Amino acid sequence: MAEQKNILSEIKDGILYLTINRESKLNALSYKILEELNNIFNEVNDNKSIRGVIITGAGDKAFVAGADINEISELNEVNARKFAEFGQEVFQNIESCHKPVIAVINGYALGGGCELAIACHMRVATENAKMGQPEVNLGIIPGYGGTQRLTHLIGRTKATEMLMTADMIDAPEAMRLGMLNYMEPTKELALARAEAILSKIMKKAPLSIGMIIDCVNAVYDSAGNGYQIEANSFARCVKSEDYREGTKAFLEKREPNFKGE
Ligand code: COA
Repeated sequence: MAEQKNILSEIKDGILYLTINRESKLNALSYKILEELNNIFNEVNDNKSIRGVIITGAGDKAFVAGADINEISELNEVNARKFAEFGQEVFQNIESCHKPVIAVINGYALGGGCELAIACHMRVATENAKMGQPEVNLGIIPGYGGTQRLTHLIGRTKATEMLMTADMIDAPEAMRLGMLNYMEPTKELALARAEAILSKIMKKAPLSIGMIIDCVNAVYDSAGNGYQIEANSFARCVKSEDYREGTKAFLEKREPNFKGE
């Protein structure tokens, strides 16, 4: 994994740990950090030593407190569109990554931070986490997919309220709204919970996991036919060695040994 300046990365036991490392600015997402995230996710699918990804923020106060407001304050109409399109592309790369990606939300996840968290496949938050889309306070709107993903995730009623009021919600409320998979008292326990989810997934056939991601994402792609994508993905699984191994292992009453082939 190529080293990046603002994101710490470490691969341990098949998990790529990414830490947005800009604690003095509450891990605000500069354009440079977005580029670094993009570089990383361009590598993840092809890197066989990575079976899952955890993204978190440095320190205990923030996951990511939004896009960098210093940079946002100097946009014009032309580069604003590019800024949003690039952010959307990066988060799309995360969402369509064939390895499971879990956000460990250790504090504020606001604006681009909330958008990053909801582009991940799952979310585990600490009890002090706060999520929100405060862009209307700045005279803008979410630009990294937040209006779309938040509405898909929690429904039009509550998403519209959050997007229009800029209210931050706490972790128990995010849990009630279905934004979180789990809530834990501390960052250590939230990381442990994410690791436990990934270690279960890592015992399954890797190709199947990638296909599940494609099929779930297809639900939200109005141009695609999710049922057809499911049938095609099902057929692709059947071409794999892991399919033969999984079915054989069941019939032989033993654990399967999946190789991702
Ligand atoms: N972009 C750039 N810098 C940010 C930032 C952002 N999104 N969020 C926080 N920071 C910086 C602050 O400017 C401050 O820097 P400084 O110490 O050099 O002055 C530092 O991070 C600490 O933030 P501070 O506001 O002092 O912490 P706080 O505990 O009082 O408040 C928040 C925390 C999250 C409520 C507050 O920082 C905030 O509202 N941030 C912006 C959230 C936002 O609107 N995000 C969407 C952007 S599109």
